[in-house]
Amino acid sequence: MSWGLRNRLDRVLPGLPNGTGSVMFAIDHGYFMGPTTGLEDPRKTIVPLLPHADSLMLSRGILQNSIPKRTNIPIVLRVSSGNSILNDDMSNEKLCVSVEDAIRLNVSAVAFSIYIGGAYEHQTIVEFSKLVNDAHRYGIPVLAVTAVGKDMNRDLRYLSLASRIAVELGADIVKTYYCDGFNELIGACPVPVVIAGGKKVPELEALKFAHNAVSDGAAGVDMGRNIFQSDSPENMIQAVRSVVVDGADPNDAYEQYKSSL
Ligand code: R5P
Repeated sequence: MSWGLRNRLDRVLPGLPNGTGSVMFAIDHGYFMGPTTGLEDPRKTIVPLLPHADSLMLSRGILQNSIPKRTNIPIVLRVSSGNSILNDDMSNEKLCVSVEDAIRLNVSAVAFSIYIGGAYEHQTIVEFSKLVNDAHRYGIPVLAVTAVGKDMNRDLRYLSLASRIAVELGADIVKTYYCDGFNELIGACPVPVVIAGGKKVPELEALKFAHNAVSDGAAGVDMGRNIFQSDSPENMIQAVRSVVVDGADPNDAYEQYKSSL
């Protein structure tokens, strides 16, 4: 691994060198969902949470329009797109942001969705592989977003399959979902794995699966809706952080969350 790639990877996931978890804050939803609940005014929601996140995953437009230029937070830029929630099949994505533009935006990593089992599986795998070729030429790590789509069966068998394929294609970070038997998925993925939060669930539930994922070997979370759709996003991201980074018990973190409401 080149010095640049290693350095950027450790900036995106600063817990990696000392074996703790990291908090990536996912706010890229609008690229196919439009003004997602909680992100209607992205700047208003995001800016107060920046001090509590290790890195930000977002689209080019929100980076340019809603994130202060003087921030030092490492950016993971979504570079795949091509559809919206108005279509039944959401797997028809391609590379839509060049690596040159990602470098111009001073990002620390790029993110691309692969749709294993989806109608456009082949297209997204080939596009992803070409992105790895290009990004690695400049020492830019590539995060593979797996298991996205409306009808995916998010069990261990499917998530392990999708995650391992991402590793085989050259992903530097795999983003997937937590599931029963998650430690087996981790065992089959020799790169850092982060979990998405998925749809909003009660805060304690989200804190518990974040805790379980890190206990099973995840490198952290890449969580969105369970933070920005919380009754108190600022309290929630701090609770997530205490579980993922500091190893707090999720029940204690939840008590802390409630007491500061
Ligand atoms: C999905 O394609 C997006 O990449 C989201 O960033 C991802 O689903 C994580 O967000 P959430 O925790 O809301 O599921």
